[in-house]
Amino acid sequence: MSQHSTDPAPAPNTGLATVFGHRDWWRDAVIYQVYPRSFADSNGDGMGDLEGVRSRLSHLRDLGVDAVWLSPFYASPQADAGYDVADYRAVDPMFGNLMDADALIRDAHAHGLRIIVDLVPNHSSDQHEWFKRALAEGPGSPLRERYHFRPGKGESGELPPNDWESIFGGPAWTRVADGEWYLHLFAPEQPDLNWNHPAVGDEFRSILRFWLDMGVDGFRVDVAHGLVKAEGLPDLGSHDQLKLLGNDAMPFFDQDGVHAIYRQWRTILDEYAGEKIFVAEAWTPTIERTALYVRPDELHQAFNFQYLGTHWDAAELRAVIDTTLDAMRPVGAPATWVLSNHDVTRHTTRFAHDRALGTQIREAGDRELGLRRARAATLLMLALPGSAYLYQGEELGLPDVVDLPDEVRQDPAFSRGEGQDGFRDGCRVPIPWTRTGSSYGFGDGGSWLPQPEGWGDLSIEAQQGVAGSTLELYRTALAARRDHPDLGAGESVEWLKAPEGVLAFRRGGFVCVANTTGETVTTPAYGDILLASTEPTIADGETKLPADTTVWWTTG
Ligand code: NOJ
Repeated sequence: MSQHSTDPAPAPNTGLATVFGHRDWWRDAVIYQVYPRSFADSNGDGMGDLEGVRSRLSHLRDLGVDAVWLSPFYASPQADAGYDVADYRAVDPMFGNLMDADALIRDAHAHGLRIIVDLVPNHSSDQHEWFKRALAEGPGSPLRERYHFRPGKGESGELPPNDWESIFGGPAWTRVADGEWYLHLFAPEQPDLNWNHPAVGDEFRSILRFWLDMGVDGFRVDVAHGLVKAEGLPDLGSHDQLKLLGNDAMPFFDQDGVHAIYRQWRTILDEYAGEKIFVAEAWTPTIERTALYVRPDELHQAFNFQYLGTHWDAAELRAVIDTTLDAMRPVGAPATWVLSNHDVTRHTTRFAHDRALGTQIREAGDRELGLRRARAATLLMLALPGSAYLYQGEELGLPDVVDLPDEVRQDPAFSRGEGQDGFRDGCRVPIPWTRTGSSYGFGDGGSWLPQPEGWGDLSIEAQQGVAGSTLELYRTALAARRDHPDLGAGESVEWLKAPEGVLAFRRGGFVCVANTTGETVTTPAYGDILLASTEPTIADGETKLPADTTVWWTTG
């Protein structure tokens, strides 16, 4: 991976740690995910880019988030929207160049925003120099040892080396022309790297330093649970592997060996000033297993996918909140909360169904209900102790675009069938900035996925300054989180008695009440209303809390 990019390397950007002030900033940070393809397009080619992100930083500052996580923008053939990296030190020309990355990092810092980049260590692209050379050199080449090449089973090696399936559907092995097979837990264009090979570790430590020297504030670690595979690559022996994912121990996920890698990485990060962080994308069978990734000498945070997968249901939510806080407390890591990202149906659409039908949904459902619940769910999430992740467009209440024609879909899982995620394009449609105009302000030249009619009514232009809009709800909530010491901080909640289907908890001088039922409920008035997802009525010390509503109270 020591290939050289054609971009000139900019002078090191050491970051402006002093504009940020706040120690342990990440413990209660609100981190906003930018999906660069779909955020803003500066050159009118229909594809978002880094300069587009830079030109819109003021929106993120005004929204009040602390940091921006950028999904991959590295040189890539885009077989999996950039999660197939061909050169970890170069920007794909579709997104700009290294000078644009440098300008974005510097400008973000000047706006008081930190930048977290995506690191994809489980697999490279099949167009990566290492893999291309390994293929060309043939069986026996030492370069093949940097990946998982194996002879096949069967009389003439015609069967894959083991029974593992790709997360995107189909076998996890592809046979090459000389007869050997290679492992890819995702698409065939994403060969898994062999983390037992010392060159792999060396290379990624160097990549970390490259981006730290560029001034980034942290890394989101893609497939953090996948780097180490069980010794000997044993068969799984089950025919329903996708059902087991995330629920059971698997020989290719969550192996104990991954932790030694993160302990090494942590020492590198800690050499840099300014509290750099790692956040793990780690799908594990339990939250307790996730907590192992965020022990004090490993990564800082891990996404809480159990929370993301929870229905809009008070009892379920309370259980996952308690389990999360209980699992994180002993390791001293902050809990994290997330409702949407680029891999799942947006929560506005998930909650538009009575019981969410999983995280990949093809029906619009009841949009009004979905938005109402999504707003309530967001206020609940932002009242919990720890760090919260937002996905671009959720501040506008965007739904998934469920009716994209099959021929425009680009999710590799869509064409591989029976995969875990076939419908991820629906949450990746470029976001609307203006009411009208070419691609609703996304850019001057259309958009890589078609935006639906009426998208402009949900735009930033249409919502800003409008009392009660979802954008203003997010802005007010994030401003309150900054101003109010009991929001975000801490590691526990004090549950209060509440009617069935209602969650109520106190955190210092602050009470949050969420009604997850479809009926109005009566609750006490706890003090002054700080914010509500739908206005309640108050009379004689009682509150009539409308269906699917969250209220924040200050209690003095
Ligand atoms: C997780 C990423 O979020 C997803 O988009 C990607 O397809 C897989 N990892 C493989 O890199």
